[in-house]
Parts: sequence; structure tokens; C-alpha cells
Amino acid sequence: MARVIMVASGKGGTGKSTVATFLSHELALKGYRTFLTELDMGFRSIDVISGISEMAVYDIGDVLDGSCTADKAIVTSPRTDKLHIMAAPGRKNGVSLHNLKAFTDSIYNDYDYIILDTAAGTGEAFNAALAVSNMAVVVATPDAISVRDARIVSDEIYYNGIRDVRLIINKYNKETFRHSGFEDGDSIIDACCAQLLGVVPADEQLHLSAMTGRPLAAGSVSQKVFSSMVERLNGSHVQIIVK
Ligand SMILES: Nc1ncnc2c1ncn2[C@@H]1O[C@H](COP(=O)(O)OP(=O)(O)O)[C@@H](O)[C@H]1O
Ligand SMILES: [Mg+2]
Repeated sequence: MARVIMVASGKGGTGKSTVATFLSHELALKGYRTFLTELDMGFRSIDVISGISEMAVYDIGDVLDGSCTADKAIVTSPRTDKLHIMAAPGRKNGVSLHNLKAFTDSIYNDYDYIILDTAAGTGEAFNAALAVSNMAVVVATPDAISVRDARIVSDEIYYNGIRDVRLIINKYNKETFRHSGFEDGDSIIDACCAQLLGVVPADEQLHLSAMTGRPLAAGSVSQKVFSSMVERLNGSHVQIIVK
């Protein structure tokens, strides 16, 4: 039975798709059967970040409206066969998430993790994911607006019955953090009311990897951060890396 994790944020561009993709890769590299898809209809990006854009012919929109079977739309990651990816549709109109529950139910026993990358805010993708997830990860950048919006989203998730809500602080930079309005990481955690899963640095190499669909360099700080998140997700008490 899979853990179904929705990846959400209040503000756009906090790095949901990037985090969802690299976290999924790290889960798979550690041996967990992982399924990653994106519900941000019309604004897809995980296909590029995970390096499968040339291989993805069909998408989750095609599967949900019955135009193709799931096996046709699933692409196995070129980096690990434990990771299966289904792209979001490039089109916005005529795509419905109504059948998402039936679809996730149908793959529930095939995976250890199902990662649902959503869209910013509390619209259709958020609500569809909320209805099928048993855990949530909220991604915020360390600034007052993003954190305030993350709180709204994490409250909404919690009050809709998902009690396991974790926070990822993304694009952390020691220099600019002084201007964030927060004293330290703890004050962000308090403001978001969610348990911290990890702190991802603002990292040009990560940005480059995401743009070109390449994996994070093994042993790089960002790769270690995602690796430690996987361990934390699976119950280990590993120290939070802040670089
Ligand atoms: N930790 C990071 N360091 C540097 N750039 C990042 C980081 N995380 C994300 N980005 C960049 O930020 C942009 C937005 O990321 P994306 O994952 O598309 O956000 P969202 O899905 O929340 O809209 C992308 O250009 C991505 O490469
Ligand atoms: Mg996105």
C-alpha cells in the first residue's frame, strides 16, 4: 500500500515540481517503488526535470479521460527502473481530474510512494490531490509572503483530514536569509505549523540539473539533502542539513 504524498505550495514558483522530482528520484534510488505525476494541467514541468520529455507520448490527462491505458502513459525513468513517471498534459482545456481517485486506487498496491505534484494555491489540482493523499509536503521559500501562503495551504490540508503535513524550505541562502524577516528556521516552522522535512539550498547546479533533466551530482549538498529527506520520511532521525 502506497504512501500518497501531495506536494503543494501557497505561492507559485517555490520549487514544488523540482522538489517532487528530485525527491522521487532519491526515493527510487533507495529502492522504493515510486510513481510521480504532475497535476498542474497545461503547465507541465516534471517531464523536463526528470529527463523524459522525449519519451512521454501520453499523459495523465489521456489516462483520466480514458483515451489510453496507464501502462502506455507511464515512462520508466532512464536513471532507475524503480521510478515511474506520468507527465501532465500540455493542454489546459478539456482535462478533468474527476477520475484521479479511481486511477490512484488502481495503482495503490504497485508502489511504495505515489508523489502528486500539484499547482500553487488551493485550486483544482490541490483539491483533487487532497482527496486521494494521506500525507502532504508543503514547499515554501524563506520569505514572509511564501511562508504566509504556505501556512494557509497547510491549514487547509490539515483541516481536510491530512494530519501528516511536512514542510520543505527551498532555495535557502544564508546571505539573503538575514532579510527574510525570520530569526531562524524554527520561526518558519512555527509560522507554517508543519514538521520540517528538509532545507534545500538555493543551488545553481540544482537549477541547471532541473533545466536539462540531469540527475543531481552524487555527493553534492543538494543530493545529500534529498537523501536525508528520504531517510526522515522513513522514520530515521537524521539531522537536518542546512547549507
Ligand atoms: N533549490 C533551488 N535552487 C535553485 N533554483 C531552484 C531551486 N528549486 C527550484 N529552482 C528553480 O525555480 C524555478 C521554479 O521551480 P518549479 O519547481 O518549477 O516551481 P513550482 O513547481 O513550485 O512552480 C525553476 O526554474 C527551478 O529550476
Ligand atoms: Mg510546478
